[in-house]
Amino acid sequence: MHPDHSPTTLAAPQDGAPNSKNQSLSALITGLLALALVGLGLVACGSPGDPNSATTAEQTARGGAMRDVHSYARPDEVAVDHIDLDLSVDFEQQRLIGRASLTLKHHSDATSLHLDTRQLDIRAVTLDDGEETTFELGPEDPRLGSELTIAIQPTTQRVNVFYESRPQAAAVQWLEPAQTAGGEHPFLFTQSQAILARTWVPCQDSPGVRFTYSATVRVPSELMAVMSASNGETKTDDGVYSFEMPQPIPSYLLALAVGDLEFRALDDRSGVYAEPSVVEKAAWEFAETPAMIDAAEELYGPYRWERYDILVLPPSFPFGGMENPRLTFATPTILAGDRSLVALIAHELAHSWSGNLVTNATWNDFWLNEGFTVYLERRIMEAIKGPDYAAMLALLGRQDLESGIASIGPQDPDTHLFLDLAGRDPDDGMTEIAYEKGYDLLRMMEETVGRPTFDAFLLSWFESNAFKSQTTTGFIDYVESELIQGDEELAAELDLDAWIYGPGLPDNATRVESSAFTAVEAQVAAWLAGTPAEALDTANWSSHEWLHFLRGLPEELSQEQMAELDAAFGLSASGNSEVLHAWLHHVIANRYSEGYAALEAFLTGMGRRKFLQPLYQRMADSDDTLAMAKSIYAKARPGYHSVSTNTIDDILSWQQ
Ligand code: BES
Ligand code: ZN
Repeated sequence: MHPDHSPTTLAAPQDGAPNSKNQSLSALITGLLALALVGLGLVACGSPGDPNSATTAEQTARGGAMRDVHSYARPDEVAVDHIDLDLSVDFEQQRLIGRASLTLKHHSDATSLHLDTRQLDIRAVTLDDGEETTFELGPEDPRLGSELTIAIQPTTQRVNVFYESRPQAAAVQWLEPAQTAGGEHPFLFTQSQAILARTWVPCQDSPGVRFTYSATVRVPSELMAVMSASNGETKTDDGVYSFEMPQPIPSYLLALAVGDLEFRALDDRSGVYAEPSVVEKAAWEFAETPAMIDAAEELYGPYRWERYDILVLPPSFPFGGMENPRLTFATPTILAGDRSLVALIAHELAHSWSGNLVTNATWNDFWLNEGFTVYLERRIMEAIKGPDYAAMLALLGRQDLESGIASIGPQDPDTHLFLDLAGRDPDDGMTEIAYEKGYDLLRMMEETVGRPTFDAFLLSWFESNAFKSQTTTGFIDYVESELIQGDEELAAELDLDAWIYGPGLPDNATRVESSAFTAVEAQVAAWLAGTPAEALDTANWSSHEWLHFLRGLPEELSQEQMAELDAAFGLSASGNSEVLHAWLHHVIANRYSEGYAALEAFLTGMGRRKFLQPLYQRMADSDDTLAMAKSIYAKARPGYHSVSTNTIDDILSWQQ
């Protein structure tokens, strides 16, 4: 929300996009409501009654509810405690059709329930055991969707919303058989983070609200449905699947996938789901998962979600991984055949503590999810592969952070850990800052107070905030009470303010070093000094060393140099997606046309935004490669998820 708006926190979420009619209407309603509530003594800015200034303790006392600029919900009035879904998956119409029953917890006498929806067709709403009630859909904001206001009583226990999702629902991707590994059956998956759950489930779509859920999902009988909940291991005969998620979760962790799936156990609490032709390869690639869970439990306390399984999706999945509880969703681009890219599994597993157990209260606090998770990820990798391995990951991360800061602008407020995303898409906060500056803050804290003290601190953070949402100020308070304890010298040494509310990378950041990478740098230097590529000492290099090698090359390379590297190391044909991605930058930068077929095959063969965005951007930066970018995009776009097309449409100024 813009600071010049009404000072109350009751204003409907505003979007930057002008829609004067809606804005003035909602401002009027907001103003009236605010007046009424101030009159009732319910709103006083800065007081405990103000949902957005509430401390975590106050929030928890009121049922853990908190207002969020990216949600229309008012969980401080009435909170959704449980959702029961009954959905039929209609591949012909590309719709999810059915009912969401929301169990309520009242914190006031409110006679309306406010939910988030976006492009849902609401057919009817009933209360408790069946009485129809009135509802109203507010004006549609392109990002936030429409507020669904439902008339209730202070005694209403349950609201039943009968609805259908639309074919273009942003969370949902409906895949043709040709977009799957098997090529015979359709596939569907959802991606709810950050604010897309509302495109397939009417809910209080804010990470500050938690609920348990149950679901019945009906699919064609040759397919299997899985969710971020308890899952079966085999297909049912009738295509009806039942799910329970007994631990309370925020809405962005609601997830569903439907396809021709098989299961392989890794041990007695973890396994892999994938299409039949992929499942063996996936089970081999992820064999270290049980050891990762053990390592994480050793550090951060018991795994609280019973099972940890991984679903390998078709290649259009827009992320590397998504930490859907009990069932991480993963891109097949990490199936490198040598287990070299499994830090991503450590990352998604780590979210079982940082994110899923202790959740960012709003998207402005996103670094609490991702920065903590990158730190945990590297501790897990250190535990299973050793400190030299973890050091390579940390150094690659530092490089990512430096280029991230350079591209955002070193003084830009978007380089602060605590963000201001009011009026913007929460997706704008998904930068290297949350991930790598967040990691660097925790790493600096570890080095300042010592590993044993810091480990005990993190363990207690997770235990004392389990199944709660936390704010950035909640974190600062916790550091003050548990670590600083009045020690002003320590407070100055940590300088949390500079990290959280200041730009760039503060001076007290840890120096990150890797001896393996120093050896790689020597090989880059040798090649540039004339040693032939095939004579370089690259034996036993992991993909991380290759990545460092490729990043260490000069921007400008001759056609001969490109051809020499390609011939010696088979880079254009690399089966490692990270290595291929780094190489394709040089292909574009140096107009190395022998690599164009590989470039096009990569961009049309998968939809992971982290790979698409920089490659399309690089092509868009220059007129002579822009045409190539557009022609590849025209072919590839129909196969991408909306998360990816949103980003690439902008880069290429694409008009549909
Ligand atoms: N939760 C994120 C993915 C995400 C963030 C989706 C924000 C939507 C909005 C997930 O845990 C993640 O960080 N994935 C990374 C992998 C990781 C190893 C850095 C990715 O997909 O690249
Ligand atoms: Zn993450």
